[in-house]
Amino acid sequence: MQYPLTEKIGNPDLLVGREKEFRKFGKWLANIPGRLSKSRALIARRKSGKTAFVQRIFNQLFRYNGTVIPFYFEFGENKIWYPNLAINYYRTFASHYISFLERDERLVTRLLSLEKIREYGVAKSLEDFVDDVDFLLQNKEVSGSHDLMWQTAYTAPHRYAAILDTRFLVILDEFQNITQYVYPDKNREGNPDETMAGSFHSISESKVAPMLVTGSYVGWLMRVISKYLQAGRLKQIPMSPYLTLDEGLEAVYKYAEFYHEPITNETALQINELCMSDPFFISCVIQSEFDDKALMTSQGVVNTVNYEISDRHSEMSKTWNEYLQMTLQKVNDKY
Ligand SMILES: Nc1ncnc2c1ncn2[C@@H]1O[C@H](COP(=O)(O)OP(=O)(O)OP(=O)(O)O)[C@@H](O)[C@H]1O
Ligand SMILES: [Mg+2]
Repeated sequence: MQYPLTEKIGNPDLLVGREKEFRKFGKWLANIPGRLSKSRALIARRKSGKTAFVQRIFNQLFRYNGTVIPFYFEFGENKIWYPNLAINYYRTFASHYISFLERDERLVTRLLSLEKIREYGVAKSLEDFVDDVDFLLQNKEVSGSHDLMWQTAYTAPHRYAAILDTRFLVILDEFQNITQYVYPDKNREGNPDETMAGSFHSISESKVAPMLVTGSYVGWLMRVISKYLQAGRLKQIPMSPYLTLDEGLEAVYKYAEFYHEPITNETALQINELCMSDPFFISCVIQSEFDDKALMTSQGVVNTVNYEISDRHSEMSKTWNEYLQMTLQKVNDKY
């Protein structure tokens, strides 16, 4: 299988299970060509495998080479000037589209410059590429037009799908960040534009370029969606953080094999049970930095799991600590 989008999980073979979810999403994806699929928000708590899942959907669609073209964009946690977001977003979209058309995997991560996108538009008589790039280049320094630049970017999948009679899947990861990191000010001073998510209000109803939205902070993401996209425009799909028992066990064996950690059949069962088939928890235990890590004995497993849960330097605790800090900050901001 091809993996043009470099998956965050690392080695793609590490991803196990999610069969039920892939099957359900498979039906939804299969209905996109017929314009029957409504935009979705994948809702699941921190570290439950959302990114792993949506990135794999990207790679599957790319490989399948059918009528639905995937576009993946992650809203970062760094402050960004409004027109730069527009350019980033547009370059990513155009590069993913062109890489799909040309079957050139490299362009998924090595994004084309605006000039190269324009050249491609000229060579292939795709005027919209030329017009959009000209508009973006001309207006970057014209302060009154930044909203139009952003409009050029965020409407692109919907517009191109309509004009070129094709379909896109617009995958937006860490969507909630759009409300906090985009600055109208060039020096990124003052306040970010909190209303940015509202741009997607009308196009979230697009059936030619439906959206698949997800993010790390469930409460925040839900607030953003309900405030700016109105309930009902994005169908909310809950995803359990836990794999099935069998899938969890498979994850234990996979991680142990890839990270060269000796285990026994008995301790594999025990790890799966104590980690409740949560793949992130399993990966933390197998890769634990615990000095006395020993996954060949029952007591060793208990101690390692205990370390991951309770020691503040462990990967598990650090992740949850960071999550709580961010969530508390949001709660404090609100009240
Ligand atoms: N299906 C899976 N098979 C194997 N490992 C998985 C699976 N799903 C998740 N993991 C493990 O859990 C980790 C976290 O997954 P991922 O980053 O996809 O979660 P997330 O829900 O996007 O997290 P965040 O809330 O931080 O955005 C992965 O790096 C991987 O180690
Ligand atoms: Mg994620």
